[in-house]
Amino acid sequence: MKWYNNKMNTVTSYVIKGNKQLSGAVHLSGSKNIALKVIVASLLFEGDVFLNNIPKIDDVLNLIVLINDLGAYAQFVTPNTLKINSAGLYKNEVSMLHSSKIRASFLLFAPLLHRFGGANIPNPGGCRIGARPIDRILDGLSALGVNAFYDPETGLNKVSITELKDSNYKFEKPSVTGTELLIMFACFGESRETIIENSVLEPEVDELIDFLNQGGAKIKRDGNDIKIQSVTKLVQNSEFKIASDRIEFMTFAALSVVTKSDLIINGVDFNAFSPFVKDLVQVGIQVKKLTQNSCQIIGPDHLLPSKMITGTYPNFSTDAMPLWAIMMTQAQGSSTICETMFEGRFSFISELTKMGAKIEFIENPTSIEEKFQFNIEKNKKYEQTIQINGPITLHNGVVSAHDLRAGASLVVASLAASGESIILDAQNIERGYENFIDKLVSIGADIKRS
Ligand code: EPZ
Repeated sequence: MKWYNNKMNTVTSYVIKGNKQLSGAVHLSGSKNIALKVIVASLLFEGDVFLNNIPKIDDVLNLIVLINDLGAYAQFVTPNTLKINSAGLYKNEVSMLHSSKIRASFLLFAPLLHRFGGANIPNPGGCRIGARPIDRILDGLSALGVNAFYDPETGLNKVSITELKDSNYKFEKPSVTGTELLIMFACFGESRETIIENSVLEPEVDELIDFLNQGGAKIKRDGNDIKIQSVTKLVQNSEFKIASDRIEFMTFAALSVVTKSDLIINGVDFNAFSPFVKDLVQVGIQVKKLTQNSCQIIGPDHLLPSKMITGTYPNFSTDAMPLWAIMMTQAQGSSTICETMFEGRFSFISELTKMGAKIEFIENPTSIEEKFQFNIEKNKKYEQTIQINGPITLHNGVVSAHDLRAGASLVVASLAASGESIILDAQNIERGYENFIDKLVSIGADIKRS
């Protein structure tokens, strides 16, 4: 772990020589957005918990450092199996340094509240893709019998259990990690029933529910509502293997199409990935199923343009959006994308434009504001819709990875572009992509870390 600490979070750049046809197969890693949640949920369990297929990425390693700092045991016992034991927890306050690096740090409210009755956690970090406040999360906890307030003196969100009772909470606007936190908090502790309404349908949430139920929890989903009967003991009976990463799937699918490489992707979960497969097929891409969990992505001679609007699952994914955008630079004609989940998700547009992409902001669709999932400031004009004109030939550039998925789209662009490109702040990419460089080199990419 030591050597990794030295590499972890260091400033990194990628040097990429593009315009090469790639070939071969990549194996998807475990999902970042499942791993972070089941790791935190493991702290509600008694005894050892073993999690398989956990990606060794910076967000996971930062969470492990944070959990060890609180006194619990969390270590990789094989390259991708994590062993966790919460017995040693002795601290209920998360440091600013640790929480600033990952969005998922506030999920620790759940195990810390049950262990200590209270917890102090700074506002979370994570990708700079918008304000990303936790107002809905604190509101939800309050509805479940937790007193929550932000102390400006210390910069800490201070929460404490006032009364555990039957509760019902409806999200005014949905939240993935908000839903996951309330599930974790409601599933444990003295006997009570909780109903969460207007939750999200993201596969990551159902993986968390499966993990908790396999440990003895009583959680049932009914469409967008989730009914939870708390239990006082959670114990793991068999190791839990998390599913593969659906956004990594879209990353390599976009790479295959943009570099015309017909790549094979292994570790595919065709059920959870079905909305993505539908989108790919709709623009003319062949997703050729090879086995139960592998496929070949074959781009068409003429990629069709598209009109996409992001939304919660199974709508078009905001995390896949930057990868979709780079693909649409190669489509025959003009495509549009409207981003409704985050107000700061287009950082990659200026970077792609430096590489020759023809992308401009256009008027939002009429009355789209009702679909915005972020909190809207009065009288503020939001540029949430882009038009992408294709096909264009990309050229090299020196660009910056402002956030994880934006960075991944720049890697795809650089591998397709002629010439040598530099991607600055590539550490943002390594927060969420395991062995990214090794995987790319294995299919013939000329990419180096510097
Ligand atoms: C999760 O973020 C994912 N992260 C994100 O993936 C993903 O983009 C997002 O869900 C939407 O699918 C993890 O699971 C760790 P939200 P989350 O709460 O839970 C606003 C990636 O690249 N909001 O559903 O933080 C929020 O700002 C990452 O892997 C509030 O205003 O997303 C956003 O605009 C990026 N107040 C919108 O709601 C709140 O209290 C949706 O956020 C909570 C959310």
